Amino acid sequence: MESKAKLFGHPIHPMLIVFPLGLLVTSLIFDIVHAATGDADFSVAAYWCIAAGIVGGLLAAVFGLLDWLAIPGGTRAKGVGLWHGAGNVVVVVLFVVSWWLRSGSPQYVPGAAAVVLSVLAVLLGAVTGWLGGELVDRLGVGVDSGAHLDAPNSLSERPAHVNAAGHTQTPAGPTSRAA
Ligand code: HEM
Repeated sequence: MESKAKLFGHPIHPMLIVFPLGLLVTSLIFDIVHAATGDADFSVAAYWCIAAGIVGGLLAAVFGLLDWLAIPGGTRAKGVGLWHGAGNVVVVVLFVVSWWLRSGSPQYVPGAAAVVLSVLAVLLGAVTGWLGGELVDRLGVGVDSGAHLDAPNSLSERPAHVNAAGHTQTPAGPTSRAA
């Protein structure tokens, strides 16, 4: 099912999710390094990683929502997408609270509660990330209709189901001449 929000022929949501995923997971790694070394550079870095990750997460969520709204109701993809999207909103909220808890302390050193919230959010994010993969790899959300190994360039005006010779092609091979 083709994405509704694309840039240069590809879905925008997967382009943006690298920011929250990378930044929020890195913040937890920095928390662990800070706990191990006591080096406040890492608590400061974790604080700003979380801030940027929250902004990136909210931005990514807008484009995920646009694609989810276009999924037909009553399908498995609609339900998986709902769990994925709602779960990711909870991930972002947990990080907002973690960020807020540490914002008042000198050099943004996190207390135990802030770190526990980050751990829970990353664990939940692993589950919701898997659901995102299920949406794309198993259910074909965000994949152009008829996509196959010889599909034409996304920037061409041609649909994905044709091949270079102009024949309609499925993953099993060419079938007929495209109209
Ligand atoms: C922090 C927020 C979010 C993160 C980190 C995230 C992460 C992901 C990941 C990892 C994938 C799989 C991408 C791939 O394998 O190429 C995905 C796909 C998807 N997500 Fe999200 N997601 C977020 C928010 C949302 C929200 C709020 C919705 C709305 C219900 C949503 C709807 C979708 C849909 C429909 C797809 C299928 C691919 C597409 O439409 O481009 N996501 N997401």
